Amino acid sequence: MRRKTTLDLQRMKAGNEKIAMITAYDATMARLVDTAGVDMVLVGDSVGMVVQGMPDTLGVTLEDMIYHGRCVARGLQQAHLTVDMPFMSYQVSPEQALESAGRLVKEGHAQSVKLEGGERSAAAIAKIVEAGIPVVGHIGLTPQSVHTLGGWRVQGRSDAQAEQLMSDALSVQAAGAFALVLEMVPAELAAEVTAALEIPTIGIGAGVDCSGQVLVCNDLLGFDMAFSPKFLKRYAELQDPMVAAIQAYVAEVREGAFPGEEHSFHRKSAARKVTRLY
Ligand code: KIV
Repeated sequence: MRRKTTLDLQRMKAGNEKIAMITAYDATMARLVDTAGVDMVLVGDSVGMVVQGMPDTLGVTLEDMIYHGRCVARGLQQAHLTVDMPFMSYQVSPEQALESAGRLVKEGHAQSVKLEGGERSAAAIAKIVEAGIPVVGHIGLTPQSVHTLGGWRVQGRSDAQAEQLMSDALSVQAAGAFALVLEMVPAELAAEVTAALEIPTIGIGAGVDCSGQVLVCNDLLGFDMAFSPKFLKRYAELQDPMVAAIQAYVAEVREGAFPGEEHSFHRKSAARKVTRLY
């Protein structure tokens, strides 16, 4: 079995085959999503919220992304691995962007990197692509700009915003990105952008006409039932069964019912006690 490449993903768009992408942050989840047959796995900087318990993605470091990239890469056999470039690892200059992307590939085992921003990130994208590292763009709601955007809100609703979004999409493609994430964008606009681009679009809250979709693994599995944005579909509701399983374990430990005989080891001659030699 071999890992999917950027060419495989671009061929999928050309052949009207939808691309399924999911986030993962550790080797166990990576193995599960890979076995389930996803095309792309994203080590998102959503790790900051989902794993690290932060309120946004801004505190995630390059070291964090390298660590989680390495963990996830060990669990994959066939899916393509994209790793997010965290806040302030590419905004300073194209040179800084290239250095950070290089570390994500060399140390984090990324096959491609993802960074946020349209026109404003075009120079960084071009520099990374020129060095032979494939890039996924990300426009619409860009969580690293949450304070500028004034919150987690749909982008591109007005005509002016829609035009800017289209122009951002074209800039990202012209800079050499091989795919583009569209986050929280009106479905009609996402469809127009997808039709205008040669590269595939991957939507999250961007309607059904994108070339593919991405969701956060913990969200689609229902690990946190309190998190329910409109765009999220839960394919399982695992929070309650997981809590129930852990409660059962706690109760059995407290009452001495676990471990049972079948989980215990024994000496060859259990009758003989250890004599104290010291
Ligand atoms: O960080 C992330 O998980 C993402 C996806 C939601 C697109 O960027």
